[in-house]
Formats: sequence, C-alpha cells, structure tokens
Amino acid sequence: MKAILYNHYGAADVLYAGEVNKPVPQNNEILIKVHFSTVTTGDVNIRGFVFVPKGFKFIARLMFGYNKPKKQILGVEFSGIVEAAGGSVKHFKPGDKVFGIDGSGMGAYADYKCFNEDSAVLIIPQNLSLEEAAAIPFGGLTAYFFLKEKADIKPGQKALIIGASGGVGTAAIQVAKYYGAEVTGVCSTGNLDLVRSIGADKTIDYTREDYGKSSTTYDIILDTTGTVTYPGVKNILSKNGKLLLVAAGLPQFLLMFRSSLFGGPKVIAGGGASNEKKEYLEALKKMAEEGKYKPVIDKQFDFDKTADAHAYVDTGRKRGNVVIRINI
Ligand SMILES: NC(=O)c1ccc[n+]([C@@H]2O[C@H](COP(=O)([O-])OP(=O)(O)OC[C@H]3O[C@@H](n4cnc5c(N)ncnc54)[C@H](OP(=O)(O)O)[C@@H]3O)[C@@H](O)[C@H]2O)c1
Repeated sequence: MKAILYNHYGAADVLYAGEVNKPVPQNNEILIKVHFSTVTTGDVNIRGFVFVPKGFKFIARLMFGYNKPKKQILGVEFSGIVEAAGGSVKHFKPGDKVFGIDGSGMGAYADYKCFNEDSAVLIIPQNLSLEEAAAIPFGGLTAYFFLKEKADIKPGQKALIIGASGGVGTAAIQVAKYYGAEVTGVCSTGNLDLVRSIGADKTIDYTREDYGKSSTTYDIILDTTGTVTYPGVKNILSKNGKLLLVAAGLPQFLLMFRSSLFGGPKVIAGGGASNEKKEYLEALKKMAEEGKYKPVIDKQFDFDKTADAHAYVDTGRKRGNVVIRINI
C-alpha cells in the first residue's frame, strides 16, 4: 500500500511517498481504509519538533526515537471505512464509516491503518462528512480535556481563548460555548470573522489591543500560543480562576507547580496522550450531532502533497485544520 514516510527528523521535505505492507488486523482490531487524515501541530512536532518548547526536545526524542524516528508513518487523526474486523471485534463491521486518533501509534498517512476497537475510534457523526470527521479529534480532545475535564467549565463563566483561530482554539471556542460559557477569542485582524462565526461572543484583536489590560476578569483563560505569562494575565484572571496552558514548556510547568503550592488561581499544563479517551471523543461526537461542533477546515491537500501541507502548518498560521485526502 502507499504511505508517506520519513526516516529522519527535519523540515517538511523529509517526507516522501513509498510502498509498505498492508497491515493485518489482530483479533481486537479493525482494518480501516483511510480516506482522510490531517496535519496537526502534533504531526509537525514529531517530524521536526517545530512547536516543541525549549527543554522538551530531549524528552520528545526519547519518546519518538533518539537518533531517528521509531515509527516511519505520521498521521495522528483519521477518518475512513472499516474494511475488515478481527475475530473478537464487537462494535464495528465492514462498511462502517469511522474517525479516530492514535497519537502514539500514528500511521494514518497510509492507505490502511489497523486500530484497537477499544481505542479512541467511533462511527462518524451522521451530519458530518468524512473530511470533517477526520479533523475532530486532535483539537477537539485537547479543548475538551482542558476546558471540561481539568477546568470543569460551567454555564455563565467567562472564558478567554488565546490563539482562537488555530486547531485547538477553534475547537475550544465551540466546546466552551457548548458548556454555556461567555467566550472571548483572541486572534489577529484577519481571523476575527472566523472566530465570531464559530460562536465567540466577543473578540480581541491581539495586533491592536493588549488583552491583559482588559477591564473584564475571566474565570478561565486558555492559551494555545505559549506566549502568556502569569504577570501578563494576573489582573484579568478571577480570584479562583483557572489558567490553562496548552503549549507548555518548562516555565509553564514551574508555574503550575508554584500555583499548587501557594494557592490562588489554578494553573494547569499538560495534556498529550491523556486527551485521547474514547469517552471524550463520544462527548465531541454528541456535540457535532447536535449541530454545536463543526471542525474548521482551512485547506485540503492531495496525498502526494503531504510535505507541502506540513510546510504550511510549520508556519504556525493555519486557521483550524489542514486535511490530507488519501483515498477519495
Ligand atoms: N498539551 C497538549 O496536549 C497539546 C495538544 C495540542 C496542541 N498542543 C500545542 O498547542 C499549540 C497550538 O496548537 P494548534 O494545533 O492550535 O496550533 P495551530 O493550529 O498551528 O495555531 C495556529 C494559529 O495560532 C494563531 N496565533 C499564533 N500566534 C498567536 C498569538 N500570539 N495570539 C493569538 N493567536 C496566535 C494563528 O493566528 P494568526 O496567524 O492570526 O496569529 C493561527 O491561526 C502548539 O504549540 C501545539 O504543540 C498541545
């Protein structure tokens, strides 16, 4: 089968098209013909450590292969059609349209992928296309993990989403709105309309205004950009507020440790593979089926242009999600 491969870390042009053996499902696995995948910041981080904060590249190399990648096929999220199911599979059958995420196994930049049926994989929401479904898990699960699982966001709370136009930000706006928060999105001038269109009650253009000087105080501040400092937001975070740091390096983890020792507003950093729970994906699927969650798709690229798609995501300027068309 065809796959997009890489043998060493580096810029987007390390990716190349090649042939590998078609996988065979184990007893508890489904074999999925992959129709769509995406280029997430997770994929570009694993390929070239593009957005990995200082101090974490060493750990990332230990996880993914110190000298060269342990796994040659990227692609963390996917949608497609079940082609075969192992003997003990109970919840899926050939012909089912599915979507899911496999942040540690990856492997969706290929014609086929096998995946354990108990992992974060579900039948696609009826009202979404396969390409939309492929773009749900990465941003959606991250937003859900921080806002719902960690911050227990509640109706009427005020939430500030910094980096509102990105993959995680566009998901966070919709998840926060779903749970009844009043949401302000921080983005640049060109993305104000997009951020309003997905439900933000208010917007702040970071190129013209310093959100840290806002007269509003927020119960939740979620930052996806890694640019927020505690002094920069302490005047706009309510006394028992929560500061959610999605793009966290060493300073952010130290801040979290400090807040756990001294009290005051709670700082939460972390995430990663702990986001990838089937029950969280079910919550997002329900939101989508109720018409309250729709992934934003910025651009789509053909399978043989995956390296171009990676180069685009490397810029850090994507709006929502970038989809790869694999078998359509
Ligand atoms: N902890 C976890 O589990 C976890 C999970 C997923 C992602 N992450 C990390 O979270 C970060 C964001 O991921 P993502 O997928 O959302 O990234 P992304 O989609 O690449 O984000 C790009 C967006 O960020 C906006 N942006 C850039 N600088 C900004 C600023 N200073 N203020 C406001 N908006 C800004 C850009 O808009 P403009 O062009 O208008 O500036 C662009 O629309 C990455 O570092 C990623 O590694 C962590």
